[in-house]
Amino acid sequence: MNKKVFVLGGDGFCGWPTALRLSNEGYDVTIIDNLSRRKIDIDLYCESLTPIKPIDKRLSRWKELTGKVIDFQLIDIALEYDVFLELINEKRPDAIVHFAEQRSAPYSMKNSKTKRYTVNNNISVTHNVLAAIVDSGLDIHLVHLGTMGVYGYGTAGISIPEGYLNVTIKKDGIEADTEILYPANPGSIYHTTKTLDALLFFYYNKNDKLRITDLHQGIVWGTNTTETKMHEDLVNRFDYDGDYGTVLNRFLMQAAIGHPLTIYGTGGQTRAFIHINNTADCISLALQNPPSNGERVKIFNQATETHTLIELAGKISKLTNAEIKHIDNPRVEDAKNNLKVDNDNFLNVGLNCIKLQDGLLEEVMEVAEKYKDRADQSKILPTSKWRK
Ligand SMILES: NC(=O)c1ccc[n+]([C@@H]2O[C@H](COP(=O)([O-])OP(=O)(O)OC[C@H]3O[C@@H](n4cnc5c(N)ncnc54)[C@H](O)[C@@H]3O)[C@@H](O)[C@H]2O)c1
Repeated sequence: MNKKVFVLGGDGFCGWPTALRLSNEGYDVTIIDNLSRRKIDIDLYCESLTPIKPIDKRLSRWKELTGKVIDFQLIDIALEYDVFLELINEKRPDAIVHFAEQRSAPYSMKNSKTKRYTVNNNISVTHNVLAAIVDSGLDIHLVHLGTMGVYGYGTAGISIPEGYLNVTIKKDGIEADTEILYPANPGSIYHTTKTLDALLFFYYNKNDKLRITDLHQGIVWGTNTTETKMHEDLVNRFDYDGDYGTVLNRFLMQAAIGHPLTIYGTGGQTRAFIHINNTADCISLALQNPPSNGERVKIFNQATETHTLIELAGKISKLTNAEIKHIDNPRVEDAKNNLKVDNDNFLNVGLNCIKLQDGLLEEVMEVAEKYKDRADQSKILPTSKWRK
């Protein structure tokens, strides 16, 4: 029998292509999503640059193309615990992949309403998932999407390890060796929820022996994967606005419409990146390599390269002749930082890294250029500020 997997947040940017990838690989996939991301588009008067289809249309097209059925359940996991638990008891999944959080740092910093929403939603979803796994009594492997941002964007002076750090602590003249979670250093309310998630995982793994993999993902770039390219109705989201647009995709779209590439502050900020196709690859690899019973939380850094923002803008400008413009940084962050990250865990299980040089031009030409007429230029600049 095919392995059953729930994809929480499977209508979103990372969740949708991952659900298709897993379905293609033979998993019996159920998407659970409350469609809140589509509702936030309405609140922000902004849409994906790509014309994404409603979830029922997406799934019927997938079935028509592949013969594979993906079930969809409209559940708010933060608010409908009993319904979610009932579904787990009914379907008895082998694994749950958890993407279902409010994932924009700028949106989380917009105002007290969005701060409270982000904390309430993200922490409740994560805790409800953990509590439901315990309530079900099933041995379910949980794979969660965290972020590289839990480590902070300062200069660590070392290559950031995958979750854990061996340290010597000194007090009262006594030294002790111990292993700790790499110190959390969140840079926004959104990132804070991810560091709190990590503590919840630590606790449930210790207390209830849950098998958990936490993936600290870099900024995702690109739009389509092997599966979403199969038909226009399967096209993935492409966010370009000041709140949800991640930096590289924002630059690509700006280049396509002839808008200057807007760098916040100096551009010396270094970030970690991964292509959307590699996101789906990593989830598949994480599912194939679960922690054993009794193993601590497995933490993988899910990133394939690091770049400064000015470097990125330079690469795109070289390809497209786009102008580069520095604007005031709405964020509170270091003007520049060095960032090196270990990613051996994924390389050791066979991740084939897609690098910027392999896919950048294709993204500019095939996606940003193709849909540029759908762009609303008034949504490009940032409106959310870290401090009033
Ligand atoms: N996009 C990136 O660059 C990136 C980088 C690092 C980590 N991540 C992480 O990956 C995950 C997915 O990110 P994304 O870019 O796909 O975000 P997204 O907003 O496109 O998708 C999240 C999905 O979760 C759903 N959701 C949110 N709250 C829910 C709830 N209470 N109940 C049910 N469904 C709910 C939304 O409707 C949406 O479809 C997030 O946890 C994010 O933190 C993303």
